[in-house]
Amino acid sequence: EKGGHRHWMSKEIAEQPGVLADAIAHYASEDAIKLPQDIDFSGIDRVVMIACGTAFYACQTAKYWFEKIARLPVEVDIASEFRYREPPIGPNTLAVFVSQSGETADTLAALRYCAGKARIASVVNVSESSIARESDIALPILAGTEIGVASTKAFTCQLTVLHLLALKAARDRGQIEPAIFGEMLRDLRALPGLINQALAVGPDIRETAFALSEAEDILFLGRGQMYPLALEGALKLKEISYIHAEGYASGELKHGPIALIDDSVPVIVMAPTDELFDKTVSNMQEVMARHGRIVLVTDADGAATAGNDTWRVLTMPTAPSQLAPILYAIPAQLLAYHTAIAKGTDVDQPRNLAKSVTVE
Ligand code: M6R
Repeated sequence: EKGGHRHWMSKEIAEQPGVLADAIAHYASEDAIKLPQDIDFSGIDRVVMIACGTAFYACQTAKYWFEKIARLPVEVDIASEFRYREPPIGPNTLAVFVSQSGETADTLAALRYCAGKARIASVVNVSESSIARESDIALPILAGTEIGVASTKAFTCQLTVLHLLALKAARDRGQIEPAIFGEMLRDLRALPGLINQALAVGPDIRETAFALSEAEDILFLGRGQMYPLALEGALKLKEISYIHAEGYASGELKHGPIALIDDSVPVIVMAPTDELFDKTVSNMQEVMARHGRIVLVTDADGAATAGNDTWRVLTMPTAPSQLAPILYAIPAQLLAYHTAIAKGTDVDQPRNLAKSVTVE
């Protein structure tokens, strides 16, 4: 039933090219995005996105896309904070709830708080779930059943659907030229092929992960849209390997966390060559000057420019910059997976965790 895989998590990681292709084909045609029910973003002036855990990091990533591509202000919050804050929500707000299970208690309570105040959309994996049923519009992510407690394919499918939603918002609001819109849809259709190439880097990642399994603390760094992925990489690693890990925005390092760095602390830097690459590299050099061991996750250009004195380089395929957070989720997942294997922990059923968190 695991299709030759040792764990559900590894099966679910490997399924990503296929399920992402399904989700893209479901929502995008050659030159348009079709939703089960239309959301007209021209009448929306604010988006709030609410979720927990990995789904929350998908929302944080999507904020970069909505604000940059669609020029639409987005507020992101964790459900357990949002629901008690009594945030003001107006009729021109779109409230988006993201949940794999569709049953997370805090996310559902936050949705109920918004009911009747705002238009409610949900991005869910389980279409028959409470969150899907109580939304005005439910957008399935089409990841198929996810069994491993550590969310993998649901995360990349959430990102993909949220990316499509951001493109739809940009189109509705007249913020994107039709030609660029078409090009971005083409880029998205090419993504499953790039994910396949990233999966092929698996053996290098496994070797790095075995070295990481000796560490007691690991930091993940990213800037811009790669910052939420640093948080996700750290969550994934601590969840299944029980190694203490933290994600930071690269630019925040010098405001405190750099005090942790010595030669026993591996630092994983998520840095595709985009317009922020040089800034991230200079943060990385600050770590190297303090003998931190760098794992640079980048593309061929980045490896050629900045890979020289690093401890390890993991080379990803070159991708359109807006899609890098989806692509770089693969090495984040595989690093966590292989580190857990090296430590001998229970990958699919980590201690103290449940797949669906239905308590508050
Ligand atoms: O079912 P949900 O997406 O609402 O679950 C939210 C979190 O509990 C979930 O993403 C959790 O953080 C995962 N175990 C992370 O891998």
